[in-house]
Amino acid sequence: MNAPTMEGLRLNVPAYVKHARLIAWVAEIAALTEAAEVYWCDGSQAEYDRLCDELVAKGTFKRLNPAKRANSFLACSDPSDVARVEDRTFICSRTKDEAGPTNHWMAPDEMRALLQTGDQALFRGSMKGRTMYVVPFSMGPLGSPIAHIGVELSDSAYVAVNMRLMTRMGKGALEVLGDDGHFVPCVHTVGAPLQAGQADSAWPCNPSTKYIVHYPETREIWSYGSGYGGNALLGKKCFALRIASTMGRDQGWLAEHMLILGVTNPQGVKRHVAAAFPSACGKTNFAMLIPPAGFEGWKVTTIGDDIAWIKPGADGRLRAINPEAGYFGVAPGTNTLTNPNCMASLDRDVIFTNVALTDDGDVWWEGLTAEAPAHLIDWQGKDWTPHDAKVDGRKAAHPNARFTIAATNNPALDAEWDNPEGVVIDAFIFGGRRSTTVPLVTQARNWVEGVYMAATMGSETTAAAFGQQGVVRRDPFAMLPFMGYNMSDYFAHWLKMGAQLGAQAPAIFCVNWFRKGADGKFVWPGYGENMRVLAWMLDRLDGKVEGSDNAFGVSPKYDEIHWGGLPFTHAHFETVTHIDKADWAAELKLHDELFAQLALRLPAELPATKAAIAQRLGL
Ligand code: OXD
Ligand code: MN
Repeated sequence: MNAPTMEGLRLNVPAYVKHARLIAWVAEIAALTEAAEVYWCDGSQAEYDRLCDELVAKGTFKRLNPAKRANSFLACSDPSDVARVEDRTFICSRTKDEAGPTNHWMAPDEMRALLQTGDQALFRGSMKGRTMYVVPFSMGPLGSPIAHIGVELSDSAYVAVNMRLMTRMGKGALEVLGDDGHFVPCVHTVGAPLQAGQADSAWPCNPSTKYIVHYPETREIWSYGSGYGGNALLGKKCFALRIASTMGRDQGWLAEHMLILGVTNPQGVKRHVAAAFPSACGKTNFAMLIPPAGFEGWKVTTIGDDIAWIKPGADGRLRAINPEAGYFGVAPGTNTLTNPNCMASLDRDVIFTNVALTDDGDVWWEGLTAEAPAHLIDWQGKDWTPHDAKVDGRKAAHPNARFTIAATNNPALDAEWDNPEGVVIDAFIFGGRRSTTVPLVTQARNWVEGVYMAATMGSETTAAAFGQQGVVRRDPFAMLPFMGYNMSDYFAHWLKMGAQLGAQAPAIFCVNWFRKGADGKFVWPGYGENMRVLAWMLDRLDGKVEGSDNAFGVSPKYDEIHWGGLPFTHAHFETVTHIDKADWAAELKLHDELFAQLALRLPAELPATKAAIAQRLGL
């Protein structure tokens, strides 16, 4: 079918597309946005290469020196478009209560008038002069019973090529969809229509107006004005977390901001854990961990680095898939010591965004090498020397600079990563970034205690989102920016899932790698050394260590951690594990503040757990 649908515009529907509802929707959005052209992505390598060449020709991409990094590119964004925009993110459920007090809400009709239906609606004519890419994708292995299909319509070729690395994108997803399958419709525009003859910019976006909008009831996503990351690659945060969390609530499963890793001991016994950390707190590093000295014969393998979809299997145990097929990771701080597997993954086929360019056509970011090169072009295209950093702290790479790679680049990729059945989850880990208060590791004594730990998690904010950095905010389950419905109802959903799982429920642990000493430096060495904490958790699952009971749960005794190869004294251990009564009195007050905010629908189990903790602390 290639019929003109309106004057001058053809839908260009490929012969293999048979889904009438999809075609009708593409026609509707093309008409609304007045796109100049429609292009259906097939997901092939040839298409990826062609779109990358076009992005180079437009100036959006720079091709890196192939002798340094094969088939890799650098994109530098508009300075107004460098991170997720949480204050412009909306959950437009029927009522404000359904979105809950932690989300921005607008009535669906009001938002639709603003975006789609009003005379001045933002999407009207928003793709003028641009190609609209039809990007079909599967979140999860093709055909998996845990996976779901989405289709993103975007006027950004940068989005199309990133989606090819981040998802199973193209013809395969359409085959799964068949001629009548359900898909989540995702509409994205950079919000920068081009008038006839108007020159385009290298990173088109709308510097002043951005909307990242979710309609949970109709499971739709509309994104306006940004070309960056989670604002624009709509399979990731918008679908796989915000929309999927509502699907999970309705259908009895979990969509979580969690990495998934496999850990195999020298006897060949393999376990799987899923771990939730807020953005830019080291999920990718933990998922790619290389066991340190003293752990010869152990292997850690990656299933996912950011998102997990988790459903009870026929045997009553939780099974998880990574809905993504690639990593959109934070570059600054990544190096051969912090994450050697990641560095190996970045050798080829990478899209970098907002890192610095070296004089020999390679990339650099803060923390990549101990010493910065003598000259760079920074992420804003300006000359940069180490002197600039000394004078005014100017960074060569943006602190939220990213790399996009296919998961298959990862040398530690788990053999089961693409298994449609997923992997059985043995334990959940929750961890925030806290300089004080929260100990290195604690196991919840039961599911409710674990849900309490996750619900009250706090973390110091990072560059992954616009806003002040380094301030502690409550980030329940590391889901604060990604919840698609009322946070209290989400806690209730977790409690209900636990009750259903009963004895089959995974263990729950809470960790904090980020405690600082009196000198203001991190005490725990982190990265590969986190294996020592992981091994203690596995020993707990196997009943090999008893730990010691404290106010919140069970923590390791010094001698229960395998220290071989790491000089970590009793005094160090005390610094990262001690529980300070005054700190915790203050911390529990902050839990109260969260509970007051969420009071309307808060499950009674949570204040009851808090009261028990306070009592055990003698408060
Ligand atoms: C991410 C984030 O990009 O959490 O994964 O911000
Ligand atoms: Mn994330």
